Amino acid sequence: MMLRELIKRKQLTVLGLNSGTSADGLDLAAVQLDFTKTRPKIKYFYGKTVAYPKDLSLKIDAAINNRLQSIDDLVLLDRRLGVFFGEQAARIIRLLKARNIKIDLVASHGQTVRHLPGKFIYKGKKQSATLQLGHPESIAEATGLVTVADFRQADIAMGGEGAPVTTGAMSLLFSNKKESRLLINIGGIANYFLFPAGNRFDQIKARDCGPGNSLIDILTRQLFGKKYDADGKLAARGEISWRLLSLLLSDKFLKGQFGVSTGRERFGEKFAGKILRYAGKLHLKREDILATVTELTAVSIAKNIGADIIHHKIENIHLFGGGWKNRYLMARLKSNLPDVNLIAVDKLGFNPDYLEAVCYAIMGGLTIRSIITGLPNVTGTGGRAIAGKIVQPAGR
Ligand SMILES: Nc1ncnc2c1ncn2[C@@H]1O[C@H](COP(=O)(O)OP(=O)(O)O)[C@@H](O)[C@H]1O
Ligand SMILES: [Mg+2]
Repeated sequence: MMLRELIKRKQLTVLGLNSGTSADGLDLAAVQLDFTKTRPKIKYFYGKTVAYPKDLSLKIDAAINNRLQSIDDLVLLDRRLGVFFGEQAARIIRLLKARNIKIDLVASHGQTVRHLPGKFIYKGKKQSATLQLGHPESIAEATGLVTVADFRQADIAMGGEGAPVTTGAMSLLFSNKKESRLLINIGGIANYFLFPAGNRFDQIKARDCGPGNSLIDILTRQLFGKKYDADGKLAARGEISWRLLSLLLSDKFLKGQFGVSTGRERFGEKFAGKILRYAGKLHLKREDILATVTELTAVSIAKNIGADIIHHKIENIHLFGGGWKNRYLMARLKSNLPDVNLIAVDKLGFNPDYLEAVCYAIMGGLTIRSIITGLPNVTGTGGRAIAGKIVQPAGR
């Protein structure tokens, strides 16, 4: 369907594509958006994760860790990711068509390879920059559908950090009149979202807490040769080093001295290298190192939300992202937050694996209808952004 027809539709069925900082693969989620009422209605009906092929995964890792040979490599990676996203989206669109579900629009976040919050000053204010790869034109070509992408850049242009960018979409799903709700996403980076009761949009809070699985993944790979610490079993065999932990907690972002977002530039390979050097001096075992970095994730989340839990009388915390499956991490989070229940976000009707892809699908739909996707007091922009770039397929 052409853009000029799409913008008139009160109902849109959107395929959202997400690839997070863990760079483990592509999440795809299909949702139906109904714009008949002021607050759009959202119905979720499909989700899937596809792992990156090995060669792409190595290239992404190289881009994130400054190991690409040239700008050519970066440009080629952008296009190859777009082709991969397009292929996967087209496959799911065919599969859904066989079930009588017709996708109208694709919304793609892209793969973040750089996130640089507050790195230069313009007009007396700290400015940010960020880069997501995955050539949306290639997605539009492969699917024949209008594709909305690059959801962070409008917010960045308006002086925001471009993150946490999904808060507006999340508020449509979770803001509630009667109940304050707190959600935590544990992907590569961990972030939280607070929706105070009464739909008070100006009081919604969201920010990155610090590392999620990023350091756990890197150190599990370096120390044990595995992709991630399945169920947290390796960390569970270790002992937390409180000395190492207190050294790591002196990080400036964790102490709240920077803005609201962070990335693998800070909590990535360099930071993991620092951990290994300290751990060597302290003669820690491999398992102790993992136990300690897992505690770092748990403590930095707890520190960020402790006051809000009391102030908003939060009883349940709703979790999503892959970290939810790390049982040891969940046990440590519970130990740091003994007065709340930790439950998966499916209690609120959404599969924890696909929630971010659902959010990008929503943002794609909002963009097509020129609805502001941001919120005040979250990313630093006053929330005026209409987030996505609209890419159109070849005329048919
Ligand atoms: N069974 C599991 N046990 C422990 N950790 C897991 C498990 N399954 C997934 N994870 C973690 O979740 C990460 C992926 O989470 P995800 O939410 O996709 O993050 P992102 O949004 O950054 O891509 C993996 O890299 C891994 O660290
Ligand atoms: Mg992922």
